[in-house]
Amino acid sequence: MNPTHAGSHRPVMLDEVMQGLAIHSSGCYVDGTYGGGGHTRALLAALGPDGRLLAIDKDPAAVARAQAECGADSRVAVRHGSFSRIGEFVDELGLRGRVAGVLLDLGMSSIQLDDAARGFSFMRAGPLDMRMDTSRGPTAAEWLQDASESRIADVLYEFGEERYARRIAAAIVARRAQAPIATTDALVDVVRGAMPRREQHKHFATRTFQALRMAVNQELDDLAAGLEQALSVLAPGGRLVVLSFHSLEDRPVKQFMRHHAGRYEGSTGRPTLRLVRAPKKAGDAELAVNPRARSAILRVAERLPDAEPADA
Ligand SMILES: C[S@@+](CC[C@H](N)C(=O)[O-])C[C@H]1O[C@@H](n2cnc3c(N)ncnc32)[C@H](O)[C@@H]1O
Repeated sequence: MNPTHAGSHRPVMLDEVMQGLAIHSSGCYVDGTYGGGGHTRALLAALGPDGRLLAIDKDPAAVARAQAECGADSRVAVRHGSFSRIGEFVDELGLRGRVAGVLLDLGMSSIQLDDAARGFSFMRAGPLDMRMDTSRGPTAAEWLQDASESRIADVLYEFGEERYARRIAAAIVARRAQAPIATTDALVDVVRGAMPRREQHKHFATRTFQALRMAVNQELDDLAAGLEQALSVLAPGGRLVVLSFHSLEDRPVKQFMRHHAGRYEGSTGRPTLRLVRAPKKAGDAELAVNPRARSAILRVAERLPDAEPADA
């Protein structure tokens, strides 16, 4: 692997992630979000010759990078697809129940955000695509063209926590009746027009772009399935490590871990997870060099040994 070919994504909370995974050198690990390969690179450096690593990404470009960088490493398997398919990929490798750690580093990579042609950034003119998996599914432009006004408003409200969701949805529907909203600039323009003037500050389109991205990529559905799948493949003592970047991502992670740790009233059955220390945020030194780490929240849980229920 060529360490200089690192892409332009700086791995977030790298030391804390590695500690969270509690690496042992002959363990089997899953990086469910390869991205620019930063966490994978550190994992591979910590693994010995008997270690295994499954690297997954939804984005064919990330998968191509993974193949180019570590496809020749006999410890590594690379798969294209959602981490909601971890179970299937792990079964192909015969590793179910033997996985010592799963990492999910959610959201977009800087490589995706910085590439105007991907349409993720409201600050870069480009086609309104926003698909992580460019091999399938509607683009954001197609999604906006087909969705009902109420669906658009619901998505902006639920996934963007956008208080002007209804106004923006109405403006989108009015604009698309004239011409499809096919570019990032066109969408920014529509959002600007729908916002009261006092709200038209620098980042007024952030929430709309986030919401649309989450809908186009079915991010919360994938996350819910991915967490279940990760738990199902972990060995006893295996670690589940999740980095999220906003409250809509973090909430289901927190709830999942707490639920499986038996921390909710009404949690039934034996806990399958133990929470490993309190959620963490990036330290000042990292924030100084990587603004993207600003909103990161790291949660770690450990799979408990399987045992018969106490009353069996
Ligand atoms: C924040 S980046 C990961 C960065 C990586 N840890 C690194 O250090 O370079 C997130 C990556 O996860 C991918 N991704 C997002 N949702 C996914 C999903 N449901 N399944 C698989 N990959 C996903 C994105 O395509 C993106 O490449």
